[in-house]
Amino acid sequence: MVVRVLFVCLGNICRSPMAEAVFRHLVKERGLSKKIEIDSAGTGSWHIGKVPHEGTRKKLDELNISYDGMTARQVVAEDLKKFDYVITMDEQNMDDVTNTFAIHDGVVVRKLMDFVPNPKEENVPDPYYTGDFDYTYELVAEASERLLQHIKNNHELKG
Ligand code: 4NP
Repeated sequence: MVVRVLFVCLGNICRSPMAEAVFRHLVKERGLSKKIEIDSAGTGSWHIGKVPHEGTRKKLDELNISYDGMTARQVVAEDLKKFDYVITMDEQNMDDVTNTFAIHDGVVVRKLMDFVPNPKEENVPDPYYTGDFDYTYELVAEASERLLQHIKNNHELKG
């Protein structure tokens, strides 16, 4: 059985591509690439087809984390059927997803920071506005570990 995870932000150029790349890297490191499929999308349409933001690319390059072939796309209704986990970066993304699409019982729609006990932030700050890609990465990295742990526990995956 394959577990499918979709990360969602507003533009799909800063936070969710960072989360996608970081989570894929982690999943690969743990030898779970065949068991977990990962993608990202934005609630907005402005940046469709674009590569991740320069700040996200710079951070990922620094860490040798691949973002090869990743381009922005918008969330579509089919995503809510296909993915087991739809993980949003903030409350607004969450509201946009739940107000726009039918959410069936089988899909988990949660904010990324909900997987961190006593998180520093409830929402992943948007570096498109803050300019602080380091802090966003710090939060995404910790939450990704927690999310993977949660998925491993729930789906009895070893790795
Ligand atoms: P993201 O950041 O949601 O983390 O990709 C943003 C990127 C672009 C815009 C807003 C947020 N924008 O308004 O163009």
